[in-house]
Amino acid sequence: MELIKITFDGIEVEVEPGTTILQAARKIGGDVVPPAMCYYSSLKGSGGKCRACLVKVTQGSAKDPRPMPKLVASCITGVQDGMVVENTLSQDVLDTRKAVVEFLLLNHPLDCPVCDQAGECDLQNFAFEHGASATRYQEERRTFDKIDIGPYVQLHMTRCILCYRCVFTADQLTSKRVHGVMKRGDAAEISTYISKSVEGEYYGNIIDVCPVGALTDKTFRFKNRVWFTKPVDAHRDCDKCSGKVVLWYRGDEVLRVTARRNAYNEVERESFICNTCRFEKKNTSDWVIEQPRAISRTSVISQNHYLGNLQKPDFQLKVAERDYKAIDDTHPKLVEYKVNKE
Ligand code: SF4
Ligand code: FES
Repeated sequence: MELIKITFDGIEVEVEPGTTILQAARKIGGDVVPPAMCYYSSLKGSGGKCRACLVKVTQGSAKDPRPMPKLVASCITGVQDGMVVENTLSQDVLDTRKAVVEFLLLNHPLDCPVCDQAGECDLQNFAFEHGASATRYQEERRTFDKIDIGPYVQLHMTRCILCYRCVFTADQLTSKRVHGVMKRGDAAEISTYISKSVEGEYYGNIIDVCPVGALTDKTFRFKNRVWFTKPVDAHRDCDKCSGKVVLWYRGDEVLRVTARRNAYNEVERESFICNTCRFEKKNTSDWVIEQPRAISRTSVISQNHYLGNLQKPDFQLKVAERDYKAIDDTHPKLVEYKVNKE
């Protein structure tokens, strides 16, 4: 097959026809790869919902060198021979991405301190890397009650960014899908039809694909912060799935079991795991331990897992020292508080 050539952020790369711009960028790898909140390479039909992956096409193709008039979603736009694309090199893209973060946060609560997904949340990383430092938003966010969907999964719709990944997972991995997106516009919500639970041997994977903390594992909820746990690769003979997982330990206890994710935080198609491995095998004796899981050094989960190369937060300590103020015991508010307490 004849390969086609595109230039992405000044780097030339050859890819097969039919490749999307995002996949071409992933072939280059590193910092030039656009972020993705809804695209998931192992789920057919995903992408095109969140606009996190917008890029600027400054030359459509060698045959027709006109630029594309608007920024395009790189996860659903196919490459053309001679195409020139800008991501980190374009100020337009960086500014628009800031706006996309702001848009995704319109209805997303800032409850990271109590969210199980904190530390491995795609939206948290996206906002940290691309968002503005302050919010302009004053309106009330929409809220929903938490719903148990099935014995193992809880849906906290308030945190959902409507990426549809869980819908595709349930559709493509389980035999009977009973949940989807109901209603439209700002009333849209993920829901199970007439409160039925999600069924099927693979539905637990909706937890792994959810980029935020909207779908959480009821066997792990509030048990620990992910950065205090130690991830370990392990496998078992399973007649339903590959049986290859990551065990998340605190001390000797397996707190949760997840599928293995790649560098883009995605589970490859053959690596999705069954509910038995995920929810019912929580003893070390159920597994053959392989090795500690390699986690990106920039992830908060890696913090304090690397010995001998610890960086002291010098700058933060200096700021804390500079800003230190002794507590004034005579402050009227403190006196009032003490009196009320007694
Ligand atoms: S529940 Fe999670 S995976 Fe499903 S649409 Fe909402 S954010 Fe996406
Ligand atoms: S990742 Fe491309 S639109 Fe969401």
